[in-house]
Amino acid sequence: MPSISPSILTGNFLSLGKDIEMLNNSKCEWIHLDIMDGNFVPNLTFGFPVIKQIKSIAKKPLDVHLMIVEPDRYIERFRDSGADILTVHYEACLHLNRTINAIRDMGMKPAVSLNPHTPVSVLEEILPELYMVLLMTVNPGFGAQKFINSSYEKIRKLKSMIINKKLDTLIQIDGGVDLQNIKPLTDAGVDVFVIGNTIFSADDPVKMIDMLNEKIAIG
Ligand code: DX5
Ligand code: ZN
Repeated sequence: MPSISPSILTGNFLSLGKDIEMLNNSKCEWIHLDIMDGNFVPNLTFGFPVIKQIKSIAKKPLDVHLMIVEPDRYIERFRDSGADILTVHYEACLHLNRTINAIRDMGMKPAVSLNPHTPVSVLEEILPELYMVLLMTVNPGFGAQKFINSSYEKIRKLKSMIINKKLDTLIQIDGGVDLQNIKPLTDAGVDVFVIGNTIFSADDPVKMIDMLNEKIAIG
């Protein structure tokens, strides 16, 4: 059954520890951390010291989404900070095969993300090397944006590529997921949902995660 990886981007950074404890006690599989460099995307977030502190209390794997240029420069430091799954952007990697190998060699699970305008066909050759593909369903850089509807077709295309190649690569999507679209997206082939705003703007985020899981399971 598909799972949820909450993004803390729209959480409360003044009480980040409480948000992580809350996620520890919720029905989510991973914790999604959005790393932005003000260059690949027009926004900045946080870096190694914050990831390390999160790692010290997190009871779930850290799913780290790099929205940065030249990610190769920092792969080891993300591993040392506690990343379990490391996602780089296709658009930021000139030598993607080398980057993916470096991530795996350092003991993390490698994933590649595509911006909304990048076709899934660019992954044809690299797909067998990937633990997961992250399809951006908003333009990266900010939480709480509107879901881009053409993503459905992209998810279906990627799913059939994975099936045709007899792989078990996971499909993750990120941006604009809510109680209305999570079931149709499950049916389209999504395995992991990154969800920020829908969870963190809810009065009771733990209950919202339960409701999202219920939608995934029974619609
Ligand atoms: C956007 C980030 C997302 C974001 C989730 O660049 O990668 O992880 O926080 O989006 P929402 O808030 O739409 O669920
Ligand atoms: Zn993200």
